[in-house]
Amino acid sequence: MSQREPHHGTTVSSAQADTAAQVAQWLAQARHVCVVTGAGMSAESGIPTFRGTDDSLWSRFDPQQLATAEAWRADSELVWGWYRWRMAGVQRAQPNAGHCALAALAARHGSVALVTQNVDDLHERASSTVAAHVHGNLFALRCFDCGHPHDAPLAPCAPDSTPLRLAPPVCGHCGGQVRPGVVWFGEALPADAWHAAVQAASDCELMLVVGTSGLVHPAAGLPALARRHGARVVEINPAPTALAPSVDWAWRATAATALPALLACLEGSVPDP
Ligand code: APR
Repeated sequence: MSQREPHHGTTVSSAQADTAAQVAQWLAQARHVCVVTGAGMSAESGIPTFRGTDDSLWSRFDPQQLATAEAWRADSELVWGWYRWRMAGVQRAQPNAGHCALAALAARHGSVALVTQNVDDLHERASSTVAAHVHGNLFALRCFDCGHPHDAPLAPCAPDSTPLRLAPPVCGHCGGQVRPGVVWFGEALPADAWHAAVQAASDCELMLVVGTSGLVHPAAGLPALARRHGARVVEINPAPTALAPSVDWAWRATAATALPALLACLEGSVPDP
């Protein structure tokens, strides 16, 4: 890599527009781009991040304690209640300006592979094509026991009234309990999704990492993989993260600020103040 920034994780002190102009230049020069997103991408849509602070009913629960097969076996109604609350929150949310700018930017560039750790559908609802949902999809329900997909509609529930415990739906195939189609801690990532993510990270000349703490592997290893294949890695995150050693350029901004500014540069217009 010839033009590595002098210090890893250099936080850009110039105005957002100057930073956007620099990243837009790298984007224009890159034949293939990979974008990796995390929960921070959906934060400005009102979806709580995992390790941030939120005042939700669930804030006293550690997601790592709920997102496991063991938690499901111990208390499936508590785990289903949490996921049903999250589903209702996503259904009520809208894609934010970052989701929309990313979709427009990818359409303009023509070779942007979007890899997300998020299990919401906000990228798709912003018209992005997602190359890989490496942690699964909240709404891809399946039977915990037989694995059969569950397509029956869910009873409506509002995010602010979801009770702590809810009985999971019953599998129409075997009578077992239906679970969300997300990857739980200790479970393997979907093979196809992970293969697509590794391919995208290996092939890109530029990687944008947006809104992830970089704490959960193997997804957290994608920036280092891209770097090993010669890519430049730009992180868009208002706070420092564990990814600093793998980041060439840290853009301290939120997704809904940085991505529209980047798109505006690509379109040759000055971003809104
Ligand atoms: N724009 C960009 N980044 C943001 C914003 C924002 N508006 N708000 C918060 N962030 C950043 C935070 O600074 C943090 O670094 O988003 C990151 C969110 O980190 P986490 O909550 O750890 O979410 P994520 O990195 O996606 O978690 C990875 O952990 O619990 C598992 O499976 C779950 O996919 C998830 C994985």
